[in-house]
Amino acid sequence: MSVKTICPAEGLKGEINIPGDKSISHRSIMLGSIALGTTEITHFLEGADCLSTIDCFRKMGVTIEKKPGRILVRGKGLRGLTAPTDTLNVGNSGTTTRLMSGILSGQNFPSVMSGDESLNSRPMKRIITPLNSMGAHITSLHDNGCAPLKVEPGVLHGIHYQSPVASAQVKSAVLLAGLYADGETSVTEPALSRNHTELMLQSFGADVTAIMHTDGTATAQVNPCEELFGQQICVPGDISSAAYFIAAALLVPGSELLVKNVGTNFTRAGFLEVCKAMGADITLLNQSYEGGEGRADILVRSSHLKATTIEGDLIPALIDEIPIIAVMASQAEGTTVIKDAAELKVKETNRIDTTTSNLKAMGGNITPTDDGMIIEGGTPLSGAHIQSFLDHRIAMAFSIAGLIAKGETTIEESQCVDVSYPEFYATLEECQK
Ligand code: S3P
Repeated sequence: MSVKTICPAEGLKGEINIPGDKSISHRSIMLGSIALGTTEITHFLEGADCLSTIDCFRKMGVTIEKKPGRILVRGKGLRGLTAPTDTLNVGNSGTTTRLMSGILSGQNFPSVMSGDESLNSRPMKRIITPLNSMGAHITSLHDNGCAPLKVEPGVLHGIHYQSPVASAQVKSAVLLAGLYADGETSVTEPALSRNHTELMLQSFGADVTAIMHTDGTATAQVNPCEELFGQQICVPGDISSAAYFIAAALLVPGSELLVKNVGTNFTRAGFLEVCKAMGADITLLNQSYEGGEGRADILVRSSHLKATTIEGDLIPALIDEIPIIAVMASQAEGTTVIKDAAELKVKETNRIDTTTSNLKAMGGNITPTDDGMIIEGGTPLSGAHIQSFLDHRIAMAFSIAGLIAKGETTIEESQCVDVSYPEFYATLEECQK
């Protein structure tokens, strides 16, 4: 178990490269595995979560080769996976568990998925309910709505699912099962969640349509498919990882940092909207698109931030960035209100609680609410002993807080950053040289 010590920083300078997007990396392994032919992935995120996905598909007979700078997935076709001889270990990864449930529902063999303590306490009814209504046979082995999950063969029918939550994991699970169904499948969600599955399915040859309704709800629809076809994928940098360095450069006086190769898909870029609303000095350079996914280099200069309100449809586009936004808000002028974010309670930790307890430990003025938090800005932070609770986003958010705190901050079990950003501490050192 490693404890990291963070000292006050003087100014972040230079250029940094952001590692591959976690959501897109997972999907590239999954779709590559069930496509025909080889999928070549560059800038793949070798974080623990995505390695769990690789491990699971290898256990189902897929050859996945790691070459310098690229990953080759030798796809088995939509119906070519083979029965695993062992439990599929999904580690800490909700994306692996929920998206793979959709794929496993369409297989003709049984399988069991289980993960770590955090994963095995996260809600899985949200995918069990729609998938079983399609004809899948998924059971929670401890009958508590959580993993371990057993998936037994079933015959899938197309459904229209009205999802109660804006969740890309729920939407994706249903759409992936829809590939194996006997008719059209669609999901309507209360607000648009990240759309990487829809975009990647389209590029692999699936018949997918996406519709935004005037009331803000969104529908994605897929038709059953004979086969998908392997693709070349260059994964953009993860905006959720970039957010820590953008925040650091905004907060530490005298900073000027170029954060390179950041994915800017609008369903993920809510953090940039919030930065702009807070008066941040950020400029997007070298914008480009590939496979429907945008990317840009982001030039960040330290800025005087002002408070904002974050709510409604914006929440799904920045849900993973809320802990670091709370840290930014603690330094902004005025009161920041975050609402409509009850989903924070079912992440790797209850992030309303873990953000609140850590920000309070550093002297921040934060009040948790049922669906978010209220943060009084302009509060000087002091170094403190931070509990990561093994949540990578909590460890990284409070490491950045440590840069602007008076005195030393220690981060307990800091190795959990490996889940999404193994090079996080090395990069943090690099831009302080
Ligand atoms: C993810 C979707 C989000 C996000 C998670 C990754 C994905 O979860 O919080 O880190 O890759 O689809 P929900 O779908 O539960 O909102």
